[in-house]
Amino acid sequence: MPKQVPTERRQLAELIDQAIALLEDELELGLVGLAVTRTAGNRAVDPSGSRATVTSRGRALGALEEEVTACTRCDLAKGRTQSVFARGDPSARLLLVGEGPGRDEDLQGLPFVGAAGKLLDRMIVAMGLRPEEVYICNVVKCRPPHNRTPLANEAAACLPFLARQIELVGPDMIVALGRCAANNLGCAPPVGPWRGIWREWHGIAVMPTYHPAYLLRSPEFKRTVWSDLKKVMHRLGLA
Ligand code: URA
Repeated sequence: MPKQVPTERRQLAELIDQAIALLEDELELGLVGLAVTRTAGNRAVDPSGSRATVTSRGRALGALEEEVTACTRCDLAKGRTQSVFARGDPSARLLLVGEGPGRDEDLQGLPFVGAAGKLLDRMIVAMGLRPEEVYICNVVKCRPPHNRTPLANEAAACLPFLARQIELVGPDMIVALGRCAANNLGCAPPVGPWRGIWREWHGIAVMPTYHPAYLLRSPEFKRTVWSDLKKVMHRLGLA
């Protein structure tokens, strides 16, 4: 019978692994040696100041999530285990949009919980925020087969959900993770540079950058993404 590792030791080992991964990311991102202010700039309450607004926002997002759960607007609904709505703070100042759920997300019902999600969380921490302080969602809410990029008709069918989600959260800034998110927010020109340049979605500042899954395949672009995220940090008052 395999020897049982005591829970506390296992937890300690996990913490050490996480700390090492974070340090590795910081080294790769060029963060070590920089004086980064690690104060979370996130607001604790709704900017309008009313708890009722926070509650009604939560309620409206809950109702929207129910609509998404029942949605059959496109064929992606046929292949899903479940839809994937969002994770994080519904009053966040920073909202991140990815492409669509992958296998892990489809199974767990939460966005960015696989390998790309783990890298994304480390990038958020490197920015001086906690993952639960930001709001994370996707262009499409159901997993495309074999993790392919959503088709134009699938993205178009799901876009009203994303638009309503963004309106309800009301972030100060959006990070579009990858070209699919940038395109669907109208923030990527068909030719020429698309990432690293401030754009706008209905008056909200959008910073398009590479998708974390791309960084897993091409880690040499981590620095490029970090330079994009630093612009976001400046604007959020985090650096
Ligand atoms: N990639 C995405 O774009 N979204 C997820 O939720 C997971 C991986």
